Amino acid sequence: MRLGEKGVRLTPQAKQNERVLSGMRPTGMLHLGHYHGVLKNWLELQHSYECFFFVADWHALTTNYEEPQDISANTLDMVIDWLSVGIVPGASHLFVQSRVHEHAELHLLLSMVTPLSWLERIPSYKDQQQVLKGKDLATYGFLGYPLLQSADILIYRAGLVPVGEDQVAHVELTREVARRFNHLYGTEPDFAAKAEKAIAKMGNKNAKLYRQLRKQYTEQGDQEALEVAKALLEGQQNISIGDKERLFGYLEGGGKIILREPEALLTKQAKVIGLDGQKMSKSYNNTIALREPPESIEKKIRTMPTDPARVRKKDPGDPEKCPVWSFHQVYSDQSVKDWVVEGCKTAGIGCLECKRPVIEAVQQELAPVRERAEEYTEDISTVESIINEGCEAAREVARDTLDDVRKAMRFIK
Ligand code: TRP
Ligand code: SF4
Repeated sequence: MRLGEKGVRLTPQAKQNERVLSGMRPTGMLHLGHYHGVLKNWLELQHSYECFFFVADWHALTTNYEEPQDISANTLDMVIDWLSVGIVPGASHLFVQSRVHEHAELHLLLSMVTPLSWLERIPSYKDQQQVLKGKDLATYGFLGYPLLQSADILIYRAGLVPVGEDQVAHVELTREVARRFNHLYGTEPDFAAKAEKAIAKMGNKNAKLYRQLRKQYTEQGDQEALEVAKALLEGQQNISIGDKERLFGYLEGGGKIILREPEALLTKQAKVIGLDGQKMSKSYNNTIALREPPESIEKKIRTMPTDPARVRKKDPGDPEKCPVWSFHQVYSDQSVKDWVVEGCKTAGIGCLECKRPVIEAVQQELAPVRERAEEYTEDISTVESIINEGCEAAREVARDTLDDVRKAMRFIK
């Protein structure tokens, strides 16, 4: 058994059994932050698991419903970037959320069983309202978007969901929703009918009490109600042992697992920070795009701020106070890093000199990406057929799950 870099066991069985699912909002052209924070992880996963990667275009509406006009162009650009960094359509399925309508139906059904309080207590709900003050986030869609994400995940019965720290709470919600759903509906088709018949045999008063206690336990997790209900069953004389067993099972759910509980796979890759030392993000205007032209890469890094103590070349500095140093951590080997620390602290090197190896490494990394992106841009029909195939593969899995869901809820036989 081999341990993968992120602590996940990569065994042949894992490969067969686990399905990986992840999504990204269509923000348009991706940048180095996405590459080192997310995509490198996807690149690794695609060779060990069956991977589904999708453009979460409906999710873009949850914070941006006023401007839907850019979403489809951004979607295409993002998929081109995925392909250009080396996501292989033969190894991964690439699709677009809005083209797989099954997500919407599952979201609707899950919304019926999800307590409002579960959504209201998710940290991102209040946090984002603080951060995005200028936006109208008082919508139903914004409150419900973590549940839409749950539907995205559950519909593929994904075992692993690679996400960043900020999304772990959403995977946790997904697990709770799956558990609740299985609990409510995960029984054999005639199980509920048989259980109901058995309840009736207990007599009106006991039947009523049993129903009430069961409700308290399944809906509110009331342990005491569970204990009382068990004691009630123990004391029943009028019902057969078979019926008693059935009612114990009915009490705790104990049925079939329809929706699988996923695990979050925390992405722990070295993060490239922004040109100004903050997180790399389009909204901070501190990015290097994956398709950034070479002259622009050169210029952006040359003009990056450095340790403010180094006003002149003869002033010593401290790499820890310099955003360029974080680039060295990602791109440079030990000998270069030693050279930087020594040269910076003793004022032996100038900042431009120090930036040179970073510029070269970024140029080298992005040249082939840019080239492939150009090829795909000139051949959009290939990109479209990759997306079509991905959507088809996704639909096949999604329909299968939804079929089970509809059966479990008795909409179909
Ligand atoms: N909410 C995620 C984000 O904002 C994107 C996303 C939507 C997602 N559905 C998902 C990620 C399902 C993982 C799995 O980044
Ligand atoms: Fe930053 Fe390098 Fe200049 Fe030191 S020498 S301040 S690490 S750019």
